[in-house]
Amino acid sequence: SKLRMFVDELPDMPRIHGYEVVNGVYKPKLLKIGMFHKKWKFHRDIPATPVFAYGTSKQTATVPGPTIEALHGVSTYVTWLNHLPPNHILPWDPTIPIASPPSKTGIPTVVHLHGGIDEPESDGHSESWFTRNFRQRGPTWTKKKYRYHNVQHPGTLWYHDHAMGLTRVNLLAGLVGAYVIRQPNVELPLELPYDDEFDRPLVVFDRSFRYDGSIYMNSTGNNPGIHPQWQPEYFGDTIVVNGKAWPYKVVRRRKYRFRIINASNARFFKFYFTNNLTFIHVASDSAYHERPVILKEFLLAPSEIADVVVDFSKSQSDSAILANDAPYPYPSGDPVNEENGMVMKFIISKHEENDDSKIPKELIRYPSPGEYHVAKTRHIAMYEYTSDIDEPTHLYINGKPYEAPVTEIPKVGTSEVWYVINLTEDNHPLHIHLGLFKVLDQTELVNEDEFKDCMLKHNDAVKCQVEKYARGEKVEVPAHEKGWKNVYKMMPGYVTKILVRFSFIHSNQSYPFDATAEPGYVFHCHVSYYYLFFHFLVLAFVCICM
Ligand code: C2O
Repeated sequence: SKLRMFVDELPDMPRIHGYEVVNGVYKPKLLKIGMFHKKWKFHRDIPATPVFAYGTSKQTATVPGPTIEALHGVSTYVTWLNHLPPNHILPWDPTIPIASPPSKTGIPTVVHLHGGIDEPESDGHSESWFTRNFRQRGPTWTKKKYRYHNVQHPGTLWYHDHAMGLTRVNLLAGLVGAYVIRQPNVELPLELPYDDEFDRPLVVFDRSFRYDGSIYMNSTGNNPGIHPQWQPEYFGDTIVVNGKAWPYKVVRRRKYRFRIINASNARFFKFYFTNNLTFIHVASDSAYHERPVILKEFLLAPSEIADVVVDFSKSQSDSAILANDAPYPYPSGDPVNEENGMVMKFIISKHEENDDSKIPKELIRYPSPGEYHVAKTRHIAMYEYTSDIDEPTHLYINGKPYEAPVTEIPKVGTSEVWYVINLTEDNHPLHIHLGLFKVLDQTELVNEDEFKDCMLKHNDAVKCQVEKYARGEKVEVPAHEKGWKNVYKMMPGYVTKILVRFSFIHSNQSYPFDATAEPGYVFHCHVSYYYLFFHFLVLAFVCICM
């Protein structure tokens, strides 16, 4: 029988402050956040599910983990502690490059703050993993106590596991959480909803469950002769928001702000309201827009963030269902069904109320790309090689696999123009650590096959005269994605031109840390599935050591 929807109330995850107030002065704080094996109720009628959960204790650990509230200008220190058992609760595949503890026991984990602009030692490099009690550590591991500087612009980030080859299963097991950087002197004057009650993260992901409540993940690989268990993509039929399947929330007739994080491995969401309510998009990924953008629907790739205001006083009806209509895989997979096409329900109070929050005309103005000197232009071509001994295909960047030495070495504080050429069949949400970027344009390739042949031979977009091919249809960058982002959807068969700013901190601030130190940074596709980092470093491959 089918699960009933909208029977569990939407939780607000516990909030942990990453700072303290001592004699009226804000001081950095050291948090200890563990990863625990426990059971979690995803739905009234699903038996409790074994999960891995972040929390300050096993008892209080949640899926998603606690929301960390940080304050601009005050560092938050976190010691992430692995309390996980020797064996994983989900199938994983040892035949793909993976964080591999020499003793073969223990679950490698490492935490990345997605959207954070921080020193490399605290970036959660995929090879900086560690097992329970730090007993075993990956090759780039340097320290236990991570420092998040919080000197970047205010906005929404999220933390998630980032271990080589295990990211996809560690995320599926529950290792995700929201992180908000607040800067009251800049944000309060905007008068957006900002109090805990009216400003909430919504962490959305898809899962499938067995009758006994455990998370279902197909344990046969797409090509079991080579990789017995590896499947590059994961899709579940149950949509989970803040740890509950298709929850409901009772709301007042006023504005709310939702920081929507797509924490799925592979599912894109195209969100809309069944009763025509609109979304007032105020920030995308971690950065505010200059002006709010009003939308009836929007597409959110894995790892992207939409920070939106919803004004329930505009609702004609007493309830509104947040729904999804993105095919999976996106864009050319199956259409959604009755289950994965539903997300959650809002039950709207009938009483009118005074709402003193506002939607300002102007939000925050950041420097525009033209204000930066372009230090370098690069071509980044993504493609897959198929071979009889390795299926599914590996993703390569400029012909190099993830394991290849670092290729791109931008200088901190500079800006570059990248032409990202997607020669694969899929839409890849490209994520860059340490930097923010603006999408300038997206242009379709003509005679793509001819260009691809050349690239397969020479791995050199300039030599292959990419400009000769990049002259098809131009796609407008949607208004709500024109700002500074850290993830963008690279359309297959297109060249996407982006301006990347390495270490985009507030306009004139200098870089507060030594970015040339080990272990460096990565950029990668955030669809869970490619070779390595599936969710993360998926495409990644190339470390940006700065
Ligand atoms: Cu969301 Cu490299 O990460």
